[in-house]
Amino acid sequence: MEHQLKDLRHRTLRDLRISVTDRCNFRCRYCMPSEIFGPDYKFLPGDSILTYEEMTRLARIFVSLGVKKLRITGGEPLMRKDVASFIRALSRLEGVEDIAMTTNGVLLPKYAKELRAAGLMRVTVSLDSLDDQRFRSMNGGKSGVQPVLDGIDSAEQAGMKVKINMVVQKGVNDQDILPMAAYFREKKQTLRFIEFMDVGNTNGWKPDNVVTKKEILEIIHEKMPLEPVDALYHGEVASRYRYKGSNEEIGIISSVSDAFCSTCSRARISAEGKLYTCLFASRGHDLRALLRSDQTDSEIVRFIEDIWQARSDSYSEDRMIHSQQLPKIEMSHIGG
Ligand code: GTP
Ligand code: 5AD
Ligand code: SF4
Ligand code: SF4
Repeated sequence: MEHQLKDLRHRTLRDLRISVTDRCNFRCRYCMPSEIFGPDYKFLPGDSILTYEEMTRLARIFVSLGVKKLRITGGEPLMRKDVASFIRALSRLEGVEDIAMTTNGVLLPKYAKELRAAGLMRVTVSLDSLDDQRFRSMNGGKSGVQPVLDGIDSAEQAGMKVKINMVVQKGVNDQDILPMAAYFREKKQTLRFIEFMDVGNTNGWKPDNVVTKKEILEIIHEKMPLEPVDALYHGEVASRYRYKGSNEEIGIISSVSDAFCSTCSRARISAEGKLYTCLFASRGHDLRALLRSDQTDSEIVRFIEDIWQARSDSYSEDRMIHSQQLPKIEMSHIGG
């Protein structure tokens, strides 16, 4: 019988998100503000980061526990050497239905073909504006828009499915909602709008900075009428909408105004091998120590089963009643 690991709220473990590095070539203000992630910032030292062999062993164990979807994240995953060899190892695991990557896109022209050949099926590219100046000011002056668009094109040409993620912040890039929608509709690529979230400890999040799902929908619907589309799979993060009379879609990820914890099937592993059962967790479980001792696969399986079965996370549902005092894991450690 197929393995189905359930947590205290009967949520099945289905997805595993693996961060391969905490480094990034961007400094997005909402994720790694350069005042904090400056030249003196201490990133994880090489020997504390899991090797690809260690990560593959963990992925195999998670797949045996019912995981079907793998997503590679960072930091910026393409900053780590030879990610393609890791993808290749993952694509050989039996039972994996989907392998995707979340990236800022600028290194895709260099790696897209190799990644596709290694078995990467999809990429999700982050892009917050089509206005060069605004985009630069959001990513800490690290890139204009064109290198990201080139990355998107090269992924598509290499034969991968592409989605675009736009984090929307009130007073920062809300004027870009419509131009982004129109541009990616024309390109027939799915754009997902993400409500600005209070991940990590450094992005100065306030409820007032959030443009809600309802507001985003109203802005677009007025110019380009939309209709809802059923979720593709149970627990899909984005709610989907189609432009009426066409096949083009958008998604909205509404972790703030309309939380989706009740169907959350995701486990996350940081580059240093900590297991997190929530994006907003303040504590991870050390898998690296197990990998680097003489624990067998079955012992690691039991450790993970115990953690998942005791899980009751629902941060986004309870956001407004949290005291906001506990330090949370940084986004650059678990890649969203
Ligand atoms: P698909 O597999 O294409 O459906 O993508 P995805 O939505 O699972 O992955 P992606 O990395 O593109 O995530 C999009 C956004 O949703 C990111 O900003 C994530 O931080 C956010 N997100 C993903 N999973 C969760 C989650 O479990 N909780 C919260 N609060 N946000 C999430
Ligand atoms: N709120 C919402 N989304 C965020 N991301 C990074 N930080 C935040 C935040 N504070 C997005 C990235 C990427 C995805 C994995 O998460 O832009 O698209
Ligand atoms: Fe880098 Fe992505 Fe964080 Fe931006 S959001 S700093 S691209 S990891
Ligand atoms: Fe899952 Fe935590 Fe996100 Fe809720 S806030 S959907 S429990 S990761």
